Amino acid sequence: MSFLEVRGLTKVYGVNESRVVALDHVSFSVEKGEFVAIIGASGSGKSTLLSLLGGVDTPDAGSVLLDGEDVHALKGAKRAEFRRRRIGFIFQEYNLIPVLNVEENIEIPVRLDGIRLKPEQMTRLLIMLHLEERRYHLPEELSGGQKQRVAIGRAYAHKPALILADEPTGNLDHANSVEIMELLRSTAKKLEQTLIVVTHDPDIAAAADRIIRIADGRIVSDTRRREERPEETDMTAEDTKSGSLEE
Ligand SMILES: Nc1ncnc2c1ncn2[C@@H]1O[C@H](COP(=O)(O)OP(=O)(O)O)[C@@H](O)[C@H]1O
Ligand SMILES: [Mg+2]
Repeated sequence: MSFLEVRGLTKVYGVNESRVVALDHVSFSVEKGEFVAIIGASGSGKSTLLSLLGGVDTPDAGSVLLDGEDVHALKGAKRAEFRRRRIGFIFQEYNLIPVLNVEENIEIPVRLDGIRLKPEQMTRLLIMLHLEERRYHLPEELSGGQKQRVAIGRAYAHKPALILADEPTGNLDHANSVEIMELLRSTAKKLEQTLIVVTHDPDIAAAADRIIRIADGRIVSDTRRREERPEETDMTAEDTKSGSLEE
């Protein structure tokens, strides 16, 4: 069984004339450590798919197994806890808490579990995010790229196995978009996390190992990158052995 198994996932909104089949029997699986981009036009069902994968919304049919666990079989507080511990979410609008500083925003999911990051853990994370000079700043004092880096820190802080990002570069210019994608990619590889990024921008999707295209709620193509990326040839034998590279 794969790390993530999506089977016959279906979501219908509305009834009668306003009925929309947002997702129509979508099935695919994702291996641990894979970086998948989901692309498609506006309204094709990308956000619906991501919210079902993360257990934020409930499907009308089908299932999502994460590490063998049926995400939608869990109810209420149990599902919320599962989501918080196993999945990191990143959104286009950053969704930071305005009255909390950078460090406090990053710590939200960890603290909900009654844990605090050790100061040196926080420092390491801030350095990785290039935010060490912004530690005590509020979101309104940050640029768009910096806000998204805080959101990435929050999603990665307790090292969830799965990161789900919905148009994470949607509000950023090209240079910042490239930087954010690279940060998402390199961090996920380092921590052996599975990364699923939704985007409508093919340039952004090109950073992924695999691109799943959806149209009208269905998968229309699923392609894997063949050539190796230059920086991956620098990885150690240990990395290769642990299977973080594609054959
Ligand atoms: N809460 C909702 N109520 C009714 N229709 C919705 C809702 N959310 C999404 N839709 C519809 O479902 C389809 C897919 O939407 P969405 O998943 O947001 O697409 P994308 O993220 O690819 O732009 C669209 O036709 C959209 O209008
Ligand atoms: Mg969307």
